[in-house]
Amino acid sequence: MIFVWDDSYNVNIKTIDDQHRKWLKLINELYEHAEGGKALENMAYLKAAFDSAIAYTKYHLRYEEKLLLLYEYPGFKEHKKIHDDFEKRLVHFIRRFDRITYTKPEVLLHDVILSFVDWMVDHIKNDDRDYVAFLKEKGLTDFQSTG
Ligand SMILES: [Fe+2]
Ligand SMILES: [Fe+2]
Repeated sequence: MIFVWDDSYNVNIKTIDDQHRKWLKLINELYEHAEGGKALENMAYLKAAFDSAIAYTKYHLRYEEKLLLLYEYPGFKEHKKIHDDFEKRLVHFIRRFDRITYTKPEVLLHDVILSFVDWMVDHIKNDDRDYVAFLKEKGLTDFQSTG
């Protein structure tokens, strides 16, 4: 694993921590597929890993938003806006990924993946903590899937 889970990422709400861990794992898998200068030889695997990371990102952001709405988090709009802005960056990542086949793959991939991880870790360690504090005040430490 290149991007190692750090206990300081834990928010101590089990479902959210499990999702954040899985998210990081998928980005690690993407990074592994991109490593070794063999990216272009293995575009099918690379594309699958990229698509999984993007799909899981969207799943996780939607899950959080449902949860925040359900518990009437006062900062919902601000948090959703941060997610929406990141999704715009994802569109940019997808465009860059599509160019990988005909430009320097390592440079593009590392750039895309590192930006992805940077945003994710920063969001988990900072933005998500705001709603976590609110949910814990309500005594909530775990959730079943909201469907
Ligand atoms: Fe999150
Ligand atoms: Fe979030």
